[in-house]
Amino acid sequence: LSHHNISTVTRKKNCKVSGSHVSYLENEVRSSLKLQRTLVQTLPDGSLQATPKELLYEFCTKLKPSKLGIMQVGWGGNNGSTVTAGIVANREGICWETCKGMEEPNLFGSLSQHGTLRLGITSDGTDVFVPFKSLLPLVEPKDIVLGGWDISSYNLAEAMDRAQILEPDLKRKLRPLLESMKPLPGIFDEEFIAKNQLPRADNVIQTKNKAQQVEIIRQDIRKFKQQHMLDFVVVIWTANSERYSVELSGVNDTAENLLNAISSNHKEVSPSTLYAVASILEGCPYVNGSPQNTLVPGCIQLAEENQVFIVGDDFKSGQTKMKSVLVDYLVGSGMKVESMVTYNHLGNNDMFQLTDGEMWKPKSAAKSRVIEDIVGSNGTLYKEDEMPDHVVVVRYVSSYGDSKSDVSEYVTRTFMNCPYRTVMYNNCLDSALCAPLIIDLAIFIELFHRVSYRTSDMKAFAPMHPVLSALSFYMKIPRTPVGEPHVNALQRQRACIENLFRALVGLNGEDNLFLETKFP
Ligand code: NAI
Repeated sequence: LSHHNISTVTRKKNCKVSGSHVSYLENEVRSSLKLQRTLVQTLPDGSLQATPKELLYEFCTKLKPSKLGIMQVGWGGNNGSTVTAGIVANREGICWETCKGMEEPNLFGSLSQHGTLRLGITSDGTDVFVPFKSLLPLVEPKDIVLGGWDISSYNLAEAMDRAQILEPDLKRKLRPLLESMKPLPGIFDEEFIAKNQLPRADNVIQTKNKAQQVEIIRQDIRKFKQQHMLDFVVVIWTANSERYSVELSGVNDTAENLLNAISSNHKEVSPSTLYAVASILEGCPYVNGSPQNTLVPGCIQLAEENQVFIVGDDFKSGQTKMKSVLVDYLVGSGMKVESMVTYNHLGNNDMFQLTDGEMWKPKSAAKSRVIEDIVGSNGTLYKEDEMPDHVVVVRYVSSYGDSKSDVSEYVTRTFMNCPYRTVMYNNCLDSALCAPLIIDLAIFIELFHRVSYRTSDMKAFAPMHPVLSALSFYMKIPRTPVGEPHVNALQRQRACIENLFRALVGLNGEDNLFLETKFP
């Protein structure tokens, strides 16, 4: 084999896997695969015993993507308007002038559009990488229909201006295309949002009756679906972070109690839970992009009973993502992270909202928890219950607008306790980090909706579990089905999506072994 093998990314549109365990039919691809998991038991003498267990899985994935709509709650916000502007600019091929010359639209930052995975190796030893979407057909972003709700009446062109994110020439060209997009009135409950948001709440559903509010949202979803002849709608919360709702037995602990609490207008049912319930009852997956406990136990049960996907909580877009990479590297290399002190400052509307202490609590908790599994994975460095000294400071600086800066200092102990200090600075527009995540979430959810599976003890094929943990890559506090641990480490989360794609077309998970050359 050559010593100068180059990894190549194929730009060809499709690739197919051959073999007796994969079949491409007219409308679906079927694969069967032996997947291994390792069961660990503690023996009476305290030692651990690991037993590999093989399970045979059959997968069936429908090949034709649905006509997809995304309804964003908070459509007129910075994320909502940036997602919309980005999709429209890409669809229409709108270029814009900056002081440095012309810029072209793209969807960088999106795994579904620009992520690649290693397919395999050629006979001359060249690694071949392919885009995710060449293995299985995905919805094209240009075909996504956008809609949603906002408590502010600004149309999407006005919302884009208010966000102060895009260049003037681009906004000027987008304006005629975005002006006609107007958010539907939203559910407003001043108990769950900071008082400083009251001035923008001029587009609210007029009834305070929660059952009626759910009914209106359900009708909105149905109308949106009919109007655009959509097969599938994903509802994504990208509205402001709410305060926690109090979890009470008899109120939001079971699906039945939650529906009764809505009927009796219970004050602890938050607007976001009402949107989630309405989506689930309409069979539409719901993504909670903020840290609040929208997905109370009753809401999760409702999703399970109705077999509707839910994904939560809080988009993992900036500093938290960096943290889950950096700490993974440090602890993964056998070094002990002793302290992590991180500062964020930004000046967008959601940050302004978070200056209210009650609204800040869920965000603070979400930002603090992202390394638990990484630290917990290394009992040689940390004692039980020991964690790095982790401080998270976030400040509102109005003049920064959507531009988010973060500075962080990590003190790690390496060989012979020598300190290893890492200081990091990041700056990016908050919405530029988040918009591709929102697009990816909808596109991957649509794919997973086309997947069914069967194990050797199942007669019929069944859909994936409604708590869609396969998309943990995108969330700060990933929701998982009961019995599945939380994974925060970013590369493990990415490997989950990658290996799932591979399994659906009958390829084993990537092991990075290169057995063929190490053991020739
Ligand atoms: P934003 O404040 O610009 O937009 C939120 C929009 O939601 C506003 O237009 C507001 O009027 C609307 N809204 C508030 N309550 C509503 C309700 N009950 N119904 C309908 N509309 C409602 O905020 P931005 O920057 O777009 O962020 C959106 C959410 O995404 C926030 O909760 C934020 O915490 C979350 N998030 C954002 C990240 C990022 O931008 N990088 C990362 C992680 C989470």
